[in-house]
Amino acid sequence: MLKKNMSHSLKLIQYYKFINHNLIYNNKAINRYKKENFEISEDKAVKLKILKKSIMNVNNCDLKKHAKNVVFNDGNPKSKIMFVGEAPGSSEDQEGLPFVGRAGQLLDKMLSAINLDRKKVYISNIVNYRPPENRRPTEEEIKRYLPFITSHIEIINPKILVLLGSTAMNALIGSDNVISKMRGKWLEKKFGRCKTSVIITFHPAFLMRQPAQKKMAWIDLKMIREKKINLKI
Ligand code: URA
Repeated sequence: MLKKNMSHSLKLIQYYKFINHNLIYNNKAINRYKKENFEISEDKAVKLKILKKSIMNVNNCDLKKHAKNVVFNDGNPKSKIMFVGEAPGSSEDQEGLPFVGRAGQLLDKMLSAINLDRKKVYISNIVNYRPPENRRPTEEEIKRYLPFITSHIEIINPKILVLLGSTAMNALIGSDNVISKMRGKWLEKKFGRCKTSVIITFHPAFLMRQPAQKKMAWIDLKMIREKKINLKI
């Protein structure tokens, strides 16, 4: 009899899981900011939505005149590992997603080398619109978008923040730093209320131009893998 009741209860649990009863009976607002079924809290979803809107409402920026799309994010907003690049290129502008061009393909390989992928990390850039001719964003452009990426980091609240290249490093850590000296070290930083371990590594586009530096990037990647284990992420 007991066995029969247990089996019935187990079946009921399975059934409720299957029909996602929370969605049916919960009177909380449905989180429509779902990408790839990454269920984030309503609060985080709203904050991300507002942030994206504020970026799209910037009205004194020439980059927007030439760009096709805003490039806001990719990956898992629940992730505790966030990557920040420089600015979108042509493919990113076309698709409205960061790191989807050639540099993105190398980034995917770098992630996969340490058992990560885009579903396990979160990705954004310092500047959200493509600079024409893929030039570096100017100081003024970086200054304009800096409050947005800072809030972005605060909302995602990563435990590990990976800065790809010197533009991300200079914007978020300080302008008098040299990447060759700063890469491969852990720095404890605060972005608003987010306290995080930051590591700087080479930008994948730089690694495509200077493949000899890949061995240094590999050291940095292994440090990320180790940190991830230590932090039980
Ligand atoms: N380079 C970047 O820094 N970001 C992108 O999204 C693409 C290329």
